[in-house]
Amino acid sequence: MPIASAIYPGSFDPITYGHIDIIRRAKKLFDRLIIAIVANPNKTPLFSASERVAITQKALVEEGLPCVEVTSYAGLLIEVAKEMSVEAIVRGLRANSDFDYEFQMALTNRDLDPAIETVFFMTAGRYSFLSSSMVKEVKRLGGGVSSFVPKSVEEALARKFTAG
Ligand code: PNS
Repeated sequence: MPIASAIYPGSFDPITYGHIDIIRRAKKLFDRLIIAIVANPNKTPLFSASERVAITQKALVEEGLPCVEVTSYAGLLIEVAKEMSVEAIVRGLRANSDFDYEFQMALTNRDLDPAIETVFFMTAGRYSFLSSSMVKEVKRLGGGVSSFVPKSVEEALARKFTAG
């Protein structure tokens, strides 16, 4: 019996409960799920790629999801997806505002390799406003982010902002 596998790419700078909600939903459909953290995102990341991998791995263990693989990548996502022999790319949708960007990415990736489908999961309503950028801003300005990220992620943010 074939094992359905998928890659969930993103910046994960850092991982939030919104991402984790998408991971839980994707795990119901895919036997193998690989979180792929882009090494050089379009925006300058707060955490290095290796820090984001370590933070994500720790958060997934904390959330009872130790079977989800985590890796980082550079270059074209579709090439990584092909190398990993996955059937699908997973992305999360929060609100209407995500749609244009996601539609453009999904169709570009389909053009690059029609064999790999992009599959979207709608986030839980309570996370529809949540973004890594907002979490970083709140924490940087001294606010608590425990309802947005696991404890280990909040600790990593505190260390980063204390270190300056
Ligand atoms: O968390 P993000 O910033 O929404 O993730 C975007 C990401 C990393 C999935 C996308 O920018 C990406 O795949 N980058 C790798 C380069 C690439 O393949 N670009 C073409 C995508 S159509």
